[in-house]
Amino acid sequence: MATIKRDHHDIYPFISPRGRLAGTAKGKSLLVTGGGKGVGKAIAEQFALAGAVQITITGRDQKALDATKAEVETQNPGVSVIAVAADVTTEDAVSAIFAALPGGRAPDILINNAGINADFQIAESDPAKWWRDFEVNLKGTYLVTRAYLRLLDGKPGTIINVSTSISDAVLPNMSSYATSKHAVNRFTESVQLEYGAQGVRCMAFHPGGIASTGMGQRAPLQFRGSLLDTPELAAGTALYLSTPGASYLNGRLVFADWNMEEVEKLKDSIVKDNLLVSRINWGPHISTEIVGLPPRS
Ligand SMILES: NC(=O)c1ccc[n+]([C@@H]2O[C@H](COP(=O)([O-])OP(=O)(O)OC[C@H]3O[C@@H](n4cnc5c(N)ncnc54)[C@H](OP(=O)(O)O)[C@@H]3O)[C@@H](O)[C@H]2O)c1
Repeated sequence: MATIKRDHHDIYPFISPRGRLAGTAKGKSLLVTGGGKGVGKAIAEQFALAGAVQITITGRDQKALDATKAEVETQNPGVSVIAVAADVTTEDAVSAIFAALPGGRAPDILINNAGINADFQIAESDPAKWWRDFEVNLKGTYLVTRAYLRLLDGKPGTIINVSTSISDAVLPNMSSYATSKHAVNRFTESVQLEYGAQGVRCMAFHPGGIASTGMGQRAPLQFRGSLLDTPELAAGTALYLSTPGASYLNGRLVFADWNMEEVEKLKDSIVKDNLLVSRINWGPHISTEIVGLPPRS
């Protein structure tokens, strides 16, 4: 039994563009949803440091997007950033994001990071707000992924979905957030299954508990004491996932606060036993069998 300690709270050399991953995004392009703020902004910054040359960031807040564009371009003169204001929940807005991509080319890496979370008990919840978590977290991820896959048109690509540890937990007041992100994990598996053969890699990760982002600042009381991580930890994890060495994590969910060097040592059992995926836990004593199927011809 291997215990993975959740003891990494800031970016470290194994996943850093200033360390082992220097130059790993050299010449690459990426699209980051929710890229103007928080985790998405840190992702743009760390991929630029790793050598990315073209970064498209989206979100609804044009001012934040413009500020991030200016910051990233000033700090990394070799990078061009395109800022597209768009709400990922509508098909037209997602089409506008893809229409703005330079040369109409598919980016090497897509990072579905835009996300929101509601915080209420089911009976007290506002149905529109409850469902909005699904619209942004799941439908947004689906629409952007769908457009990306269509643009790839049979070619390889990389998709990294920002999920949450809560997708694997049952906690009070989190019914819309947790279930929408749980669905993102399963969607990640579906993408890997349907498009893996063409060279598409799709992974999900928990970015850490981060107090400094918008979501962290609005975090429900029950989590306030456990937000120990930096946005750079999340961004370094995304960079690690984008490298071919992380292919053993295709279709799976990992947590940013795990030590990826230690996780890599477990890669054979992760793949052989198909770990880090969502399954109903039948336990060792229960299995099911469909009775009444017609005989195979
Ligand atoms: N912070 C944490 O502790 C934590 C923990 C677990 C998971 N996460 C996940 O990390 C991701 C990033 O969150 P964060 O912590 O960086 O919080 P944040 O600062 O609130 O960032 C959320 C991002 O999503 C964008 N967004 C929200 N609704 C959108 C919409 N309808 N269309 C397009 N973009 C939209 C926002 O941009 P605009 O405001 O410009 O639209 C913003 O850039 C989320 O998926 C979240 O679930 C965060």
